[in-house]
Amino acid sequence: MTTSIIPSDALCVADYQRLAKEVLPHSIYEYIYGGGGDEFTLKQNRTALDAIQLWPRVLNDVTHGTTATSILGESWRSPIMLAPVAFQRIAHEEGEIATAQAASALEVGMMVSTLASHTLEHIAEKLTSPRWFQLYWQLDRSFNLELIQRAEVAGYTALVVTVDSAIHGIRNRAQRAKFALPDNVAAVNLVNRPALPSSTFTPDQSIVFQGMMSEAPTWEDITWLIKQTSLPVLIKGILHPADAVKAKSIGAKGIITSNHGGRTLDCVPSAIEVLPLIRQSVGDDFTILMDGGIQRGTDIFKAIALGANAALIGRPQIYALAVAGAAGVAHMLRILREELEVAMALAGTATIDEIGPACIYKSR
Ligand code: FNR
Ligand code: LAC
Repeated sequence: MTTSIIPSDALCVADYQRLAKEVLPHSIYEYIYGGGGDEFTLKQNRTALDAIQLWPRVLNDVTHGTTATSILGESWRSPIMLAPVAFQRIAHEEGEIATAQAASALEVGMMVSTLASHTLEHIAEKLTSPRWFQLYWQLDRSFNLELIQRAEVAGYTALVVTVDSAIHGIRNRAQRAKFALPDNVAAVNLVNRPALPSSTFTPDQSIVFQGMMSEAPTWEDITWLIKQTSLPVLIKGILHPADAVKAKSIGAKGIITSNHGGRTLDCVPSAIEVLPLIRQSVGDDFTILMDGGIQRGTDIFKAIALGANAALIGRPQIYALAVAGAAGVAHMLRILREELEVAMALAGTATIDEIGPACIYKSR
């Protein structure tokens, strides 16, 4: 499965998806591509982006143009980051190591998942670009501390706690394709995880509420977590302005507005739709990243215009990884940055700060 040659017909992110479908085993592709329920939200992530039109201004001098930006005090080459994507060795034998090499080469930050298929230390060794650690809350508080301390020692500079997927959505597509994690891929960062208490249920109890959700974090847990680390903490999976305000009030340094790529609760709005309301609710000085359906430089431009500080790339990284390993991911990231540069230049915006709501056309 290891390939590293970039196909000549890989010209945009959608090409990588098409090519990945050809090279990946069916069940793995379906797991990566799929969403929850009837996939209304998965589709909506694209539909909502497609419906937005840019409103370009002409004849501006953009020769000083740059995609550079500052996020939580870090200098980023562009407002693009790799979203946490678990178990990357299902797509390519080098998995997250190849992704980290590509991210470093293109100066794009990477959020490393708790469920990575390489250790967070090993991945960090390869990362010279911004490195953030994504935490899936663990029932045992001391095990959360162990993971956070490992991330701190390995040089991660921010902690992202994902809160929208304490339980999986209804993943019928992956079930139909009989997806199962291959034997050689595992959550290697969790090998020391204390055994969960065995649970038995009475007939009137629910395996969801009294079972799985009893392991889910609450606002109290996240408030505690923020006090345990010197790293800035961001909360991933926020769609409601009231939750954004709450996140800010408990000391989170930012949020990721996201519906988890349509993979958890179906029938929810896309991040791009709620973004303006969320920005309005927390004010200008709070870091908001977003994800869901980003496939073009124009999509990133739209996200910035509607209130995001940066956009995350989920599935495209793993499609490109499957098709051409580190070279594929680097190429995909380069395509996105260049497309963003083209969008900025042709819209008459030289810098990220110049991209705002006025760059979006609203029919009157
Ligand atoms: C994810 N996502 C995810 N999120 C997270 O916080 N931790 C994780 O381990 C994973 N794992 C994961 C695996 C796979 C295969 C996918 C497709 C997604 C969600 C991810 O970070 C992001 O929110 C979405 O993928 C963004 O949507 P797009 O860019 O895939 O449309
Ligand atoms: C997923 C989990 C791993 O979306 O976050 O598949």
